Amino acid sequence: RYLVTSTLPHLRSTGDLAKKKTYPALWGLYRDGLLPENTKFFGYARSALTIEEIKENCRPFMNVKSEEETNYQNFWRNHFYVQGTYTQLTDFHKLNEVLCSYEPENGANRIFYLALPPSVFEVVTTNLRKSCVSKKGWTRIIVEKPFGHDDASSEKLSLHLASLFSEDQVFRIDHYLGKEMVQNLMILRFGNGLFSPTWNRLFVASVQITFKEPFGTEGRGGYFDKFGIIRDVMQNHLLQILSLVAMEKPPSIHPDDIRNEKVKVLKCIKPIKKEDVVLGQYVGNPNGKTDEEKKGYLDDPTVPNDSITPTYCTALLKIDNERWEGVPFILRCGKALNERKAVIRIQYNDVPGDIFDKQCKRNELVIRVQPNEAVYVKMMTKTPGMSFDMEETELDLTYSNRYKV
Ligand code: BG6
Repeated sequence: RYLVTSTLPHLRSTGDLAKKKTYPALWGLYRDGLLPENTKFFGYARSALTIEEIKENCRPFMNVKSEEETNYQNFWRNHFYVQGTYTQLTDFHKLNEVLCSYEPENGANRIFYLALPPSVFEVVTTNLRKSCVSKKGWTRIIVEKPFGHDDASSEKLSLHLASLFSEDQVFRIDHYLGKEMVQNLMILRFGNGLFSPTWNRLFVASVQITFKEPFGTEGRGGYFDKFGIIRDVMQNHLLQILSLVAMEKPPSIHPDDIRNEKVKVLKCIKPIKKEDVVLGQYVGNPNGKTDEEKKGYLDDPTVPNDSITPTYCTALLKIDNERWEGVPFILRCGKALNERKAVIRIQYNDVPGDIFDKQCKRNELVIRVQPNEAVYVKMMTKTPGMSFDMEETELDLTYSNRYKV
C-alpha cells in the first residue's frame, strides 16, 4: 500500500510556493525516511512542463548535500507531471487514469494538496470529488490559504467543501503550526511549573508577536495585492501564535481540545479600533544594495500603480477575559523590512518595591521562531566582580548550541 500525493504547483511565477517550499519539504520528508515507501508525487497544473524542467526550477531551493545526490535523484524518479485545466472534468478523469496506472492492484491513499488561486478552489474540489477519489484507500484534501477573503466567503467555501468531503478529510493548512518553536509553545507553557503561575495579567505587561521579512512581493504582487499583509500573514500565522500563547490549558493534547481552546480565546478578542492599527506600504530605497531593495511595492509590475494595499501592519489586540484583561497584545508584520525575524516577546511587569534605584529592566521571555530558534529569558544579574553593579543578561536556550538541528 502506498500513498499518492498530488501537488498542484504554480511553477511559472518566480516567488512561488512549489519550488520554494513544497518540493523542498517533500524532499526533506523523503530524505529523512518519513514517507511511506513507494510514495509517488504528481504535479498537476495548466502549464506544459516536464519533470526535468520542474527539477531544474526547484534545484536552487532543495539544499542537497553532495553525499545525498544519489538519493536525491531517486527522489525525482517518483515524480510525475500531468497537464490539465482546473475547470474541465475530462482533465481530471485523465489525472485519475494516470494516478491509477501507478497504483498497485489493491489501490492507494491519495492526498491532494491544493496550492491554487482561490478562484478555482471550488471547481477543482468538485472535479476531484467527481473523478479522483481513491477507490480503495483514503482521500485527503489539503487547502492552502487564502481560505476566502472574509467571513462570508470562507463560510461559503467551508460549506462547499463539507458538501464534498467529510471534515476529517479536509486539512486547512497554516505552515506556521509546523514550525518547531510554534509547536514548542504548548510544552513551554503547560510543561513548566515555572511559567504557568505568572502567565496572566497580574505578571505580564505586554505580549508582542512580530513577523518581519527582508524581501518584498518579488513578482507575487498579483496574489498579494488582492489580500494584503493582514490576510497574508496576520490573520493566519500571527493569530495562530497568539491563540497558542493566550489560550487556556486544553483538557488534553487532542487536536479537537486544542482547537476548542483556541476558538474560545479568539472569541474574547474585542473588535479592533481604527486608532489601534498602523498600516504602511513599502517604498524603494534609492541607496539599496540590490535591485530588489531599490524597488518599492508599486514598482512590482504585478501590482496596480495606484494600489493602497498594506504591506505592513501593527495592530493592538485586547483579550477581554479574566486572564488577559488590560494586557496589550501587539501584532506586527511587514514585508521588505530590515531583517527576517519571527519572534514572540512576553514582557513582565516592573519589579514591585524597587530597591535598585530604577536600574532593573523588565524581564522578558523571548521565543525566537526564526531564524536561529531560541528561547531566552532577559533578566537582571549582578555584574561579576567586586562591585555591586547590575546588568541585563540572558538565560539562553539557543537551539543551535544545544541541539543538533
Ligand atoms: C506565507 C505568506 O504564508 O508565509 C508569505 O503568504 C510569507 O507572504 C510566508 O513570505 C512566510 O513564511 P516563512 O515560513 O518563510 O516565515
